Amino acid sequence: MKQFIQNLPKAELHLHIEGTLEPELMFKLAKKNHVVLPYNSIEEVRQAYHFTSLQSFLDIYYKGAAVLIEASDFYDLTLAYLKKCHEQNIVHTEIFFDPQTHTDRGIAFETVVTGISEALEEAKRRYNISSFLIMSFLRHLSQGAAFETLEASLPFKDKIKGVGLDSSELGNPPSKFKEVFQKAKEEGYELVAHAGEEGDSRYIWEAIELLDVRRIDHGIRCEEDEKLVAYLQKTQLPLTVCPLSNVKLKAVKEMGYHNILKLLHRGLLVTVNSDDPAYFGGYLNENLEAVATSLQATKEEILQLVENGFRASFLSNHEINKQKAYFASMRS
Ligand code: HPA
Ligand code: ZN
Repeated sequence: MKQFIQNLPKAELHLHIEGTLEPELMFKLAKKNHVVLPYNSIEEVRQAYHFTSLQSFLDIYYKGAAVLIEASDFYDLTLAYLKKCHEQNIVHTEIFFDPQTHTDRGIAFETVVTGISEALEEAKRRYNISSFLIMSFLRHLSQGAAFETLEASLPFKDKIKGVGLDSSELGNPPSKFKEVFQKAKEEGYELVAHAGEEGDSRYIWEAIELLDVRRIDHGIRCEEDEKLVAYLQKTQLPLTVCPLSNVKLKAVKEMGYHNILKLLHRGLLVTVNSDDPAYFGGYLNENLEAVATSLQATKEEILQLVENGFRASFLSNHEINKQKAYFASMRS
């Protein structure tokens, strides 16, 4: 199964670039940029990665991101992830970044976008990996701050495919960002939002009905509402599920209880993704392997989950059809 997963060409749709910061690069950049970390060693960093909730993770994740200062830091971070994609046979990736995590520390929007984009271009040349960039608004901040971020993004519209919504979900429902998502849509951005990770099914409905998103990130709590499951089945609105993340952040008790295959069998367009792989103990292949091992997924189920990654992507219909034909050939 491990080899089967490795060999499949894959797409990743839910990946925070700041969440790919491995402790080794964190220390290297801290030293170069004279940033003081609250850890003495790489081992100490890894020991801090025991999370009890989404918030307990975010507190540590934002501290780590403070080592990113220059465009070359964002370039190195992104290229390291894309090298990993190449090793794991990920041929297409749609990457989140959190502009406000950096602009609030005095780093220019341009520095962040330039560093990331140059690495994406290099990976296209070097590994033939295609990619899109999605900027996420931090939902614990105000809608006004999101509007400022949207404004700052406009000169770089050619480099950014869409907008998303992440950070602390509970108490920050999608309705808080209705107007800024409307404006982002008018600007031509694709829309996605994290919902139903810790928040209940009402957060998912709000993301659909008030924000008009094209995908739901996580969405695993949809199961609590039969009407919502039926809606997701009928519309094939995708869920970008992150199994290792859900277990690490205690959204799911253990992998054996994860509902991803249940949702797949109910006909939902579910995909597998790594979220913040440097923090959650695995990249995309490890997430697929965890599903295969703990939930006894068959090769056909893995094939369907991986094919769904392309179907749910923002690739052109032409590209998606090419991938569908490849997966059909795998089955015959
Ligand atoms: N949820 C919310 N915010 C995040 C996440 C997540 O899984 N990862 C990085 N920021
Ligand atoms: Zn996420």
